Amino acid sequence: MNRDEIKAKLDEYKSLGYEVPSMDLIKTPEQIEGIKQSSAINIALLDYIEDFVKPGVTTAFVDTLIHEKTIELGATPAPLNYEGFPKSCCISIDDQVCHGIPSSKEILMEGDIVNIDVSTIYNGYFSDSSRMYGVGEVPKDKQRLVDVTREAMMEGIRQVKPWTRLGNVGAAVNAYASKHGYTVVREIGGHGVGLEFHEEPWVGFTTKKDTGMLLAPGMVFTIEPMLNAGGPDIFQDADNGWTIYTCDQKPSAQWENTVLVTDDGCEIITY
Ligand code: MF3
Ligand code: CO
Repeated sequence: MNRDEIKAKLDEYKSLGYEVPSMDLIKTPEQIEGIKQSSAINIALLDYIEDFVKPGVTTAFVDTLIHEKTIELGATPAPLNYEGFPKSCCISIDDQVCHGIPSSKEILMEGDIVNIDVSTIYNGYFSDSSRMYGVGEVPKDKQRLVDVTREAMMEGIRQVKPWTRLGNVGAAVNAYASKHGYTVVREIGGHGVGLEFHEEPWVGFTTKKDTGMLLAPGMVFTIEPMLNAGGPDIFQDADNGWTIYTCDQKPSAQWENTVLVTDDGCEIITY
């Protein structure tokens, strides 16, 4: 569909009372190409770091590797100095839900489950994705949380089609998580991405079916659910103002991909 056709259809839906994306959220082919190039670097970084996730390694070391590799690839780490964030990626272990700050005092231990969240700026275009990594041998219950969370993300992605509602994504994620005995973090979500680090829409993962923004071809946003082994409640580290933890200290897992809404479905661009 071309831009004029998309605009006409959005105007029609808007007049029917739907929440619709503004036209600046509909990326042009040139912008999509730029976001894909940025995403390719993000994927390379997530691949690259895998071999370094081992018992005894500090999260600051992992961060340094990500930082240096990003620069080597001609890009900039988006988290660094973003609203005061001090490092080049987020690393969150076990009961850390997200936004863990890499530290020379944090040492990876056998059996930890670790989310490494990488975001890249390349030629002015932003990309964002994260994976879970196991440190050495991971206990079965934690591995199951990791696997179900990945599948929950995929369930959400399967809902992404033009002219359907964004709320379907969170409804599918939440249903899948509940079915497997896990809870979903309510307060933190995905986001539009591409021309900026965080754009509209906000993407919740406990939303209701047939609610929220209408999806249209050319939209680019992240799907990044956080599933908890215990309850959904979380709190923010009062000292560093970033790191989110589960209240019950049970483990949490997260996977993140960026998707592009196409004419007939979606494309995962950070795989
Ligand atoms: N990648 C995280 C996200 O999904 C980034 C959080 S902001 C940061 O939005 F400064 F902590 F990187
Ligand atoms: Co994100």
